[in-house]
This record gives sequence, structure tokens and C-alpha cells, in this order.
Amino acid sequence: MKKIFVIGSVSMDLVVSTSVVPRKGETVLGDLFFTTTGGKGANQAVAAARLGNNVHMIGRIGDDDFGQEIVQNFKRNQVDVTGLNVVPEMATGTAHITLADNDNSIIVVPSANNEVTYDNIKAQLESIQSGDIVLLQQEIPADTVEKVLAHCKKRGITSILNPAPYRAVDEAVIDNADIITPNETESKALFEGKLDDALERYPNKLIVTIGDKGARYFNGQEHITVKGFKREVKDTTGAGDTFNGALAVGLQKGFALDKAIELANLAASFSVTGMGAQGGMPTWEEVRGELNV
Ligand code: RIB
Repeated sequence: MKKIFVIGSVSMDLVVSTSVVPRKGETVLGDLFFTTTGGKGANQAVAAARLGNNVHMIGRIGDDDFGQEIVQNFKRNQVDVTGLNVVPEMATGTAHITLADNDNSIIVVPSANNEVTYDNIKAQLESIQSGDIVLLQQEIPADTVEKVLAHCKKRGITSILNPAPYRAVDEAVIDNADIITPNETESKALFEGKLDDALERYPNKLIVTIGDKGARYFNGQEHITVKGFKREVKDTTGAGDTFNGALAVGLQKGFALDKAIELANLAASFSVTGMGAQGGMPTWEEVRGELNV
């Protein structure tokens, strides 16, 4: 079976929920505080492992309690952590999340995630075979993302780049990725002109997520919108990550692209029903009935 390798960030999320968002210089009282495991890379790995098998995390944690909590969480979710190493005398990445008005805003402090350099993970890349799937996001150094995508292209490894959070990328990054999954905002920033034109330039490759309305792509002949699923929203954090982890699982299972996107939409719809980035991520048993496979 194809393996899924997530190369990316792992963080501890420090979450505050509030009905009043402070303005500059203002102090307000919030409603709730909790810590929970997160980081876009880790979230994608956990989402994939709940739905599929053979999921491996390549990343870096600090030598602190947050790092150990993250390792235990990966183990509980059957994510292989052979490629997750401790960086001495460094802190684990943290994300500082404010939940308000059914949405989130996030400040990420990468810390050990900045040590996910190409040189540091080169040896681990050797265990990835042609046909395996690599999933990347942008909370690790840009140079790593660029070099890993070039490596995947050369070795026949399927790559999915989730370009979140947005940063400007070289043309080679777009060219080397097999699949790119921005949301609408990221897509506007990455590709000039109309969305339809960008989709047509990258058939079966550019998949733009449009929230609970689903996701769009161009199949070479026509524009396709794979419909989303609406559920009651508790916390939208991690919905995009769930989409990406599930998309990788769809490809791992050998689904056609539209079916893999349907699985991704369905899994993302479950994810918003729980608190925390990973709280609502579904298992395969939970989604299979609605997927008709
Ligand atoms: O995509 C959601 C994630 O973004 C959170 O878990 C947080 O860690 C930030 O990186």
C-alpha cells in the first residue's frame, strides 16, 4: 500500500474563545482557554491517519512537555513518528488562536518547525518510494518545500502542496507539485487574473477549496465543483488541514480525483463539529456511509 508522508509543522495550539475581540491597546475578558495539539502538518497527518493507514510524520519538536504531548497524540492516532525528532534546547512550535464569531485568527511561532530544513530531513526522504504520497504546507522553511517538491518530482513521488499560510512561491514550486490546494484567498494571491483561468492553466492539479460550498477544479474539459457538506459549526480551525489529509487518503485508496475531493469535503465538514483543530476529525467508519463506496 502507498504510504503517506506529511512533511511539516507540529505545534501546540493555545486557544482562547471570546465574544469580544480586543482592539489595539484594549483588554477584554474571554470565555474559555484550552491547549490542544495542532500545527498544519500534524493536523493533516492525524486527519489522514483517522481515515487511512501508513501515515508518517516528518517534523521537529522542541525538548519540552508540549513536544512529548504531541508525540503521545500521534501515537494514539497511529501516526508513525520515526521521522519526528527533538531539537535540543529549542521550544516546540506554538499557535496562538482566538476564536470569535464562528471563525479563528492565528499567530504561529514556529520555533522547532524552523529546523525542518532540507539537510535535516534528507536521510528521511530516502525511505519514500515512487508512488508514495507526500503532503506539504508552509509553516516550515520555504527552501525545504522547494527542495522536497523537486525531490518528489525526480523520484515519481506524488506531491500535494497546501500553500497555507500564504507566502509568495517560485514558479518551480507550482510546476513541481502534482496537486496544489489553496483556499480562495490563497489562490487569488498566488495566481494572477480570474480563478477560472488559473484553474484552466492547471487541469487536475489546482484544487481551490471554497469553504462549505466544496472545492473547484478543471478536469481538462470542464469546470467541476465538488459539493461540500454543511454541518453545525463549533470550531473551523483545522478544516482545511482535514481536507488535505483526507485528499491524500482518497489518492492512497486509489479513488478518482473527484471522489477523493468528495471524501476531503466530507471529512472537512465533520472537522468543524468538534473543538480544537483535531477535535472533529472523523474516522473512516464515520464517513464511509455518506460517501457511497
Ligand atoms: O490550520 C490550523 C492550524 O494552523 C492550527 O492547528 C494552528 O497550529 C495553525 O498552525
